[in-house]
Amino acid sequence: MNRKELETSANAMMVKGKGILAADESSSTCKKRFDSIKVECTEENRRVYRNLLLTAAGSEAYVSGVILYDETIRQKTNDGTAFPAYLAQHGVLPGIKVDTGAKPLPGFPGETITEGLDGLRERLTEYYKMGARFAKWRAVIDIGAGIPSGYAIEANAAALARYAALCQEASIVPIVEPEVLMDGDHTIERCEEVTNTVLDRVFTHLYAARIHLEGIVLKPNMVVAGKKCAQKASAAQVAEATVRTLKRHVPAAVPGIAFLSGGQSPTQATEHLNLMNAAGPLPWALTFSYGRALQENALNAWAGKPGNLASAQSAYLNRVKLNGLAAVGKYSASMESAA
Ligand code: 13P
Repeated sequence: MNRKELETSANAMMVKGKGILAADESSSTCKKRFDSIKVECTEENRRVYRNLLLTAAGSEAYVSGVILYDETIRQKTNDGTAFPAYLAQHGVLPGIKVDTGAKPLPGFPGETITEGLDGLRERLTEYYKMGARFAKWRAVIDIGAGIPSGYAIEANAAALARYAALCQEASIVPIVEPEVLMDGDHTIERCEEVTNTVLDRVFTHLYAARIHLEGIVLKPNMVVAGKKCAQKASAAQVAEATVRTLKRHVPAAVPGIAFLSGGQSPTQATEHLNLMNAAGPLPWALTFSYGRALQENALNAWAGKPGNLASAQSAYLNRVKLNGLAAVGKYSASMESAA
């Protein structure tokens, strides 16, 4: 483990005014996104779409890193440059999703355990050689009747810690992503309660696994009400509950926190991030690592048509710029219509 290198990469990911693009959808998740715009999910179409996002000129002003999928890290831009090399040339850190997905947890109906530890050491060595300087592993915690169980939380926290240790051994910064889903009808209070427990268990396991906290990035959910909850929480409530929860569990040694968007609309995700940063000061950098909230407008503008490339890239650029501003508390809703 090279602690200095880990810290340098983590700090570069968390540089002020920038955040991370999550473009690491597995081929099956990508198919869902492409189905919504009626585009066939072929390897070439996935490459064309990722090329659109990754080569959007000027995005490097707001994007410090991009999370790639195993297929994507091996693909090339239109002019034949490997994606990780292209990103590095533009001062953007290449990252890689290394978990192999959330699978049913035996004995615990409705709950999952994230897999991918077997052979991970060797895969990380290969990814480092390909240019990856950070990785991602997503644990999924669902809220419902009688769930989550303590066992599911514990098993996922333990896997996250083992993943993080393997990453750090390979001088790759682990993004530690415990996602409490916003599906369901639970209240914001219930989300806060579960997120508190999950973060408590995750940091206990990270400490026990001797993780160098200065060389990780946390990727949590925001504390929000379930999508089907009748009582909607205001943006101010979300920002307040999220910061309160994070302050209780995330040591100041951690350089930064980059949220997932989790099903929030693009504008909600930006507004929430902005409110938290505007209310500062905070002990860590607070930014975005959005997938859907950064891509939704661009995906719809593209619709699989080559002629839409410029408008799709401009939709993406607009979104990363607004989130870059939110990462320093300088976004306002009026900027949406001005765009
Ligand atoms: P969303 O922002 O769409 O939730 O995706 C982020 C991510 O990387 C999920 O693992």
